[in-house]
Amino acid sequence: MSALTDKPAVLVARRAPEAVLQRLQASFEVDYHDGELPLPPAELQARLHGKAGAYITGTERITAALLDACPALRVVCTMSVGYNHIDLAACTARGVLVTNTPDVLTESTADFGFALLMATARRMSEGERLLRDGGWKSWAWDFLAGSEVHGTTLGILGMGRIGQAIARRGHFGFGMPVIYHNRSRLPVDTEAELGARYVSKETLLREADHLVLVLPYSAEAHHCIAAPELALMKPTATLVNVARGGIVDEDALALALRERRIAAAGLDVFEGEPRVNPALLTLPNVVLTPHIASATLPTRRAMAGLAADNLIAALTGGKPPTPLNPEVLSA
Ligand code: DGY
Repeated sequence: MSALTDKPAVLVARRAPEAVLQRLQASFEVDYHDGELPLPPAELQARLHGKAGAYITGTERITAALLDACPALRVVCTMSVGYNHIDLAACTARGVLVTNTPDVLTESTADFGFALLMATARRMSEGERLLRDGGWKSWAWDFLAGSEVHGTTLGILGMGRIGQAIARRGHFGFGMPVIYHNRSRLPVDTEAELGARYVSKETLLREADHLVLVLPYSAEAHHCIAAPELALMKPTATLVNVARGGIVDEDALALALRERRIAAAGLDVFEGEPRVNPALLTLPNVVLTPHIASATLPTRRAMAGLAADNLIAALTGGKPPTPLNPEVLSA
């Protein structure tokens, strides 16, 4: 509780839509960081000290050490579906509830994943750069000729909600046979609806014409696409990553792209973002975007609203809609 009011004190660690901020201010004593850049870790910890709730995004790291320094913290609400920036086990062990924002971003993230696949396969960024640089001299039969999309094999690594939404676009929109690999296999009727076939990771790598990475990031997923995996892919294949940068070994990818061992890549996420591996920046056959797969205003408003719903429910005796460690609620 704040010393001045009987409202719980919370930190809103990043800019939020005005309407969402007003809702939070109605329920809480809000310490608001509205800067363009994330708070440095030490300042994040200092400002979280004594707060009951944290309203964060994927750019704030919640570690065991931070939790130990902020014993009043009861809930961490991230405005993201991914939660690899939060030590979930450490939160659960300390009775801190964690929530994320699934579902509301599924379709717009899938739209973007498919757009990135198209832009990569059809060399759109390369074409635009060439045009702007005055390099467009004439028509030629093979001028900026890219890879086919319709009717080719769409591979998906990580068949959760977003993976399934991308599969649906490929299957219904582009007549693509879909193959996928996932920790667990989908129910047979879902596979039939998506026209999707479960395969081993090795078969996925060997057979996909376009491979989209949509799996959650974890220690197990770290660099799970590295030189040996890239070596299995077709030389004509494209690789698209809308999940987390750390899934791909970027040095190995840059080498494979430079040596044309795969045709092209589309990357929305990077291991050290916002820093981008310099080797990628020099390559023509990679489309690079700054982690914007969920960035439409309606979707971002929905994510911000859902994170606020979670925070308000968690600290006012309600039922948070999307908890990641609901066992904390029943403990
Ligand atoms: C997510 O929601 O996880 C997106 O990657 C934005 O951080």
